Amino acid sequence: MALSWFEHQQFPLYLAPMAGVTDPIFRTLCKEAGADVMVTEFVSAEGVLQAWQRNHRYVEFEQQHRPLGIQIFGSNPEHAAAAARIIVDAMQPDFLDINAGCPVPKVVGKNGGSSLLKDLPLLQRIAAAVVKELGDDCPVTTKIRIGWDAQSICAPEAVLRLQDAGVQAIAIHGRTRSQQYGGKADWEMIDTCARSVQIPVIGNGDITTPQDVQRAKEHTAVAGVMIGRAAMNAPWLFARAKSYLRNGTIPPEPTGNEKLDFMLRHTRMAVDSGHYGNELLTMRAMRARLLAYAKGIPGTKPLRPALSRVSSYDELLEMLAPLRALS
Ligand SMILES: Cc1cc2nc3c(=O)[nH]c(=O)nc-3n(C[C@H](O)[C@H](O)[C@H](O)COP(=O)(O)O)c2cc1C
Repeated sequence: MALSWFEHQQFPLYLAPMAGVTDPIFRTLCKEAGADVMVTEFVSAEGVLQAWQRNHRYVEFEQQHRPLGIQIFGSNPEHAAAAARIIVDAMQPDFLDINAGCPVPKVVGKNGGSSLLKDLPLLQRIAAAVVKELGDDCPVTTKIRIGWDAQSICAPEAVLRLQDAGVQAIAIHGRTRSQQYGGKADWEMIDTCARSVQIPVIGNGDITTPQDVQRAKEHTAVAGVMIGRAAMNAPWLFARAKSYLRNGTIPPEPTGNEKLDFMLRHTRMAVDSGHYGNELLTMRAMRARLLAYAKGIPGTKPLRPALSRVSSYDELLEMLAPLRALS
């Protein structure tokens, strides 16, 4: 069951899964901006088994987001397989992704996410159980980091074990768990892993420009790249990178005013969707997003404290209006 988006020398650009960020509205915006493949925010396998209805909202998607993967985390092979079955039957994603990279204590404390890198046989058992359960119904992929810490780099062994378990692709974030998001992603290690397996490896970590995407394509063996934080600040990176890959030209960044329009449109869509509840709850969820966009817009620095408290769409509209003259 090959993943069609890797066929014919395509080099897909993935939107990285980001809890609290890659909600359905943001995924729609990234799809419009040129993202090829996307992965939902993660959902706990135990949460799916105990309260699927409550956890469902993390993995909702629209048909236009396809090809799309739903990501789960867990530490028990049977439970992961049972949760994967519930998700696939209910949602029919294009692939089911297993998280073995999340560094946050809430996940690691339950032996999920990156703590699986300390127990590769368990990671392999989880992957094999999910692959067996889903059979031909849905391909399985995995996302890993390169190891728990600098003393225990295990990605080369992990990718072989995951390939043996039957996963169809592996995304590698080139950092250890200890690094969290600091230091630099190790693309040499990603490349080494990509060369050692027959399945596609997607490189992830510190891709921020079209040139970074091109470099990964030309100089490493990855079959695609995954973009996280840079997409959060600038979703138009997808289109700019694709143009560069296609014909060597990079379209200009949107102007300041176009970025302001984008911020407002994202906010309007989020409020109208009701995904986060009422307007105040939505604006609370949007604050970090607005601050991320604002980084790339002239004149927004003095607004940062107000943006971090903004509580309605109209307030945001008023706040941004004076900036129009600056761009
Ligand atoms: C706010 C945030 C939430 C994240 N949530 C997830 C997640 O749910 N699942 C996952 O596999 N990785 C998650 N990640 C990691 C990203 O998918 C990605 O691996 C990481 O940000 C490195 O890529 P980048 O340098 O392009 O940002 C998250 C990262 C951030 C910044």
